[in-house]
Amino acid sequence: MRIFETHAHYDDDAFDDDRDSLLQQMHKKGIDYIVNIGCSMDNSRHIVKMIQQYDFLYGTVGVHPSDIQGLTNADMQELEELSKREKILAIGEIGLDYHYDNVVKENQAKWFLAQLEIAKRRNLPVVIHSRDAAKDTLDIMKEHHNGVTPGIIHCFSYGVEMAREYLNMGYHIGVGGVVTFKNAKKLKEVVEYTPLNRIVLETDAPYLAPTPYRGKRNCSLYLTHVAEEIAAIKNVSIEEVCAATYENAMKIYNVEKK
Ligand code: NI
Repeated sequence: MRIFETHAHYDDDAFDDDRDSLLQQMHKKGIDYIVNIGCSMDNSRHIVKMIQQYDFLYGTVGVHPSDIQGLTNADMQELEELSKREKILAIGEIGLDYHYDNVVKENQAKWFLAQLEIAKRRNLPVVIHSRDAAKDTLDIMKEHHNGVTPGIIHCFSYGVEMAREYLNMGYHIGVGGVVTFKNAKKLKEVVEYTPLNRIVLETDAPYLAPTPYRGKRNCSLYLTHVAEEIAAIKNVSIEEVCAATYENAMKIYNVEKK
C-alpha cells in the first residue's frame, strides 16, 4: 500500500529535533511522495532548497493569508521566480482566513488574487486555504480561477453544498486527520458525498493529527488512519482509498513531469 502525502510542513520547528531521521523512514513505511507546502516568503525560499535533500520530497511556494503583512509586489515577483525552481509543484497555500481578525480582509483578497495570477501565468495548480471565509473564497475562485489549473481545497472544513461548488469547478478536496474525529460530522458527510477520484490525502503536519494521536505532533506516517476512516465512510477497502488518492495527487501535481 503506497501513499501520496499532499500537504505537510516539515520545515516547521516541531521537527527540528528529528526531521532527518523521520523523513528517512518515510519510504520504507509506505509514503512515496510528500509535498511540503509554502506559507510565507521566508519558508518558500527555504523549501526550494530543502526539497533537494530528499528524492521523494517536493514543494510548493506561496504566502498563507495569515502571513501577508508587509508583502510587496517585489515579493510576488520573487515568488514567481521561486515557482520556476526544480520540484516546485504548485502555488500555495493561499486563500482567506477570517478566523482571527488580525489581518485585514481586503489585504488578504489582494494577495490571494495576486498569487492566483501567478498560478495561471505559470500554469501551476493551486493549494487553497480557506477558514471561516466560505463565501468570499468561493466568489474569488469562481471569478478569478474557475478550474483554469487544478487545485486542492486543503483541510476542507465546509459542508456538502460548498463541496459541490468546488467539485463542479474541477477541484479536489483535501482530507486529513479531522475526518477521524468523532465530532467531525460535516466532514464525514463531505467525504461520503465526494467521489473517491476527487479526494486527496493530507496531514497538514505538524498540525491536526488523527485519532489516536489527536493533540500530538502529526506526521505523514499517520495517514493510514485517515485512509482507514475514508474507507469506512465510503465502504471500500483501505487499499482502494490509497490507490485512488495516490493517482489523483499524481495527476494534480503532475509529478512525473517535474
Ligand atoms: Ni498547511
